[in-house]
Amino acid sequence: AELLGINPDDRKDFRRWSLGCMLALNPFRTPEQTALYEESTTVLAAYLAREVDIRRSKPSDDLITRLAQAEEEGDSLTTQDIVLLIRLLLIAGNSTTTDMLTAGVAQLLKNPDQLAKFRARPDLHDNAMDEILRVEPPVSQVLRSAHEDMQVHDKQIKKGDTIHMSLFGVHFDPEMNPDPLSFDIERKNVQHFAFGGGAHYCLGAGLGKAQAKIALPMLFNRFPDLAFAPGREVKHKVAPAFNGYSELWLVK
Ligand code: HEM
Repeated sequence: AELLGINPDDRKDFRRWSLGCMLALNPFRTPEQTALYEESTTVLAAYLAREVDIRRSKPSDDLITRLAQAEEEGDSLTTQDIVLLIRLLLIAGNSTTTDMLTAGVAQLLKNPDQLAKFRARPDLHDNAMDEILRVEPPVSQVLRSAHEDMQVHDKQIKKGDTIHMSLFGVHFDPEMNPDPLSFDIERKNVQHFAFGGGAHYCLGAGLGKAQAKIALPMLFNRFPDLAFAPGREVKHKVAPAFNGYSELWLVK
């Protein structure tokens, strides 16, 4: 919201609408969730279109202004283009980072020896982020279309086929990561595709990792006795192709 230049007074509504838009990804929505999703996308689109119009007449130092001013070979973005781009940014950047943080908390609390190392050795934080993304990829499946016939191990793939790749499957392949079930923040050469690959490699990879690298040490420093809340079940989200927690209760 800050990068886009959203008025701080509107952030609460903005977060609610952006969470509402993400319900698009849940095929098991209840009727109430569908109503929230429809309301959120409509209200957010109108809100953003207004913001774009304001920036067109009164530029400011933010991403919406940059998008409104962007021009290449005489071509520029319409207000609708910008609204859709921002919605993509919100959906792509919101649940993923939240889920990475939650997964980091859960994995470190489940593995006290790793948490002790994480607290004592800030030099391991970067590697720890990759290990968290390996064992709990927030996006658990990526899609590709085959541009030509190909053979992958014993599978014949035809030109035009859609391929669904499970990142859990890849990340837990012992040929890629030996002893894959163990969560080891000192693992050498962590291999993961949590940000995809190729031309569509995640635009926010640096930002996503930076957020977790700041937030996780801050959280564990501020609450040294952080622990799972007794008697509370950890619940996973229901969202195909995404991996995250819907409930993770803690005590400080
Ligand atoms: C830990 C956090 C994140 C994870 C795990 C993640 C994961 C992914 C994955 C798996 C893809 C698909 C890549 C592919 O198909 O090869 C993707 C694409 C994308 N991500 Fe992220 N993402 C994260 C954070 C963010 C953030 C913070 C933003 C924006 C602020 C963002 C914006 C995008 C966009 C725009 C795309 C589409 C890129 C394209 O199709 O060219 N992501 N992300």
